[in-house]
Amino acid sequence: MSKKRVLSGVQPTGNLHLGNYLGAIRNWVEGQSQYDNYLFIADLHAITVPQEPADLAANSYTLAALYLACGLDLNNSTIFIQSHVSAHSELTWLLNCITPLNWLEDMIQFKEKALKQGENVNVGLLDYPVLMASDILLYKPDKVPVGEDQKQHLELTRDIVNRFNHLFAKPDQPVLKLPEPMIRKEGARVMSLTDGTKKMSKSDPSEMSRINLLDSPDEITRKIKRCKTDAIRGLEFDNPERPESNNLLTLYMLLSGKTKQEVATECQDMGWGQFKPLFTDTVIAALKPIQDKYQAVMDDKGYLESVLRHGKHKAEAIANQTLAEVKAAMGYSVPL
Ligand code: AMP
Ligand code: TRP
Repeated sequence: MSKKRVLSGVQPTGNLHLGNYLGAIRNWVEGQSQYDNYLFIADLHAITVPQEPADLAANSYTLAALYLACGLDLNNSTIFIQSHVSAHSELTWLLNCITPLNWLEDMIQFKEKALKQGENVNVGLLDYPVLMASDILLYKPDKVPVGEDQKQHLELTRDIVNRFNHLFAKPDQPVLKLPEPMIRKEGARVMSLTDGTKKMSKSDPSEMSRINLLDSPDEITRKIKRCKTDAIRGLEFDNPERPESNNLLTLYMLLSGKTKQEVATECQDMGWGQFKPLFTDTVIAALKPIQDKYQAVMDDKGYLESVLRHGKHKAEAIANQTLAEVKAAMGYSVPL
């Protein structure tokens, strides 16, 4: 029996932080041998907010190197850059024409980002979920591992599949395949270091709110020293009145590899002054192997390029096949 397929991606905007790692990439790595993985760098999504042309390609390379540094194994995973496979853009146009505008206007992430961007809202920001649906549907994956914040986009993708198949396929011969989201409970929503009720985010103006995968030990120490806590002694999980306690204990648990029970017992009588150095050491130790591997990959540009070239060819073969099926179902002629 062939392995089930997984597809996911991250945008090459800003530094990857612990939320991206624990909510997305680490889950790809942990499950990778069970699946056939297609993991890409969403550089077309990136330009829904303005990007500096001089940095765009370099940011994609950095992210690809981080994928490898986090432990993706090329025997199980195909890594590629979204813009290298033109079928993503083409399928987006076709799906745009069957997606009702109000489905997109209802997306929470659009509303939030549009509010932040004020006058600067472009059509791409609204259309972002259709591009994401195309990313997914081209590869007919079984599962799409993402953080909690992407759940609504996965639901929209499923609505698009149902609508497309209803319009253009016979009931027993669907053209597009319904994907399942894969959202882990722990780590699915890593919160900001400066406010335990807000998600850790690349776009937060404060660097102090997040720990990036490439932060130096000094930066990590400084950020944790200043991170928000509360005035209560004894740390605990799951107390809605203490979001920072829950967030920091969850991070400690995930990065130390200890169980929730072990961490709860270890920290129940600790004060913040005792917890912070312990937590700092754990974060630094967990990130060290990733940072070392990242440096090694970045020092070998030729290797990285060969990984991405190979990824493009493998991804393209699958994507072009699906695109051809979609176009045929919609009634387009095959080019002469
Ligand atoms: P983005 O930073 O929006 O490109 O997100 C890349 C991946 O990281 C997606 O799967 C997100 O769901 C996930 N992600 C982003 N921020 C967080 C967070 N604070 N906690 C958990 N997962 C996150
Ligand atoms: N929108 C996703 C994010 O910001 C990134 C992404 C783009 C993605 N296309 C995707 C994730 C397809 C999963 C599948 O996190």
